[in-house]
Amino acid sequence: MLRMIAVAALAVCVAGPALADADASIKYRKNAMKAIGAEMGSIVAILKGEIDNKGALATHAAIMGAATKTAITKPAFMTKTDGEGSEKTTSTGAIWTDWAKFEAGLVALEKAGAAMADAGANASMDHVKALGATCKGCHDNFREKK
Ligand code: HEC
Repeated sequence: MLRMIAVAALAVCVAGPALADADASIKYRKNAMKAIGAEMGSIVAILKGEIDNKGALATHAAIMGAATKTAITKPAFMTKTDGEGSEKTTSTGAIWTDWAKFEAGLVALEKAGAAMADAGANASMDHVKALGATCKGCHDNFREKK
């Protein structure tokens, strides 16, 4: 009996937040991605010389290193929202049926972000390309095409 209650309580804990928080989860993960995308744009603009702010390159690289950490991205995508919520999303259900592959993509993203952060003021287009390859590798497999 006690065991049954424990199992039922666990089921509520697991299912509850996932259902209630679909929209919040989708928004959170989109914000996490937008932060990464925004930094990518700023860094490329500086490296191309479109923006005269080389002095901030190390700071941008550090933000990229922080924004790509799995401490943010894993929980951001962990909640399965396939078909749930009303918030617009381009995530495909494959994320949760092939989590190991998706997670490997997040780890690759974190690694490339850390390499850029380590480079600091010496961050280059090579770092951008290495990062960009991780974005594309994942988006091609786990994002709806427009
Ligand atoms: C391991 C997978 C993965 C990696 C790596 C990844 N993304 Fe994403 N990204 C996604 C998914 C999935 C979505 C769709 C999110 C949604 O709409 O629910 C997304 C959405 C986005 C969005 C749109 C957010 C919005 O407001 O709808 C941007 C911008 C973005 N990613 C930028 C990047 C950049 C830049 C990189 C690389 C530096 C990157 N992503 C790496 C999986 C990934």
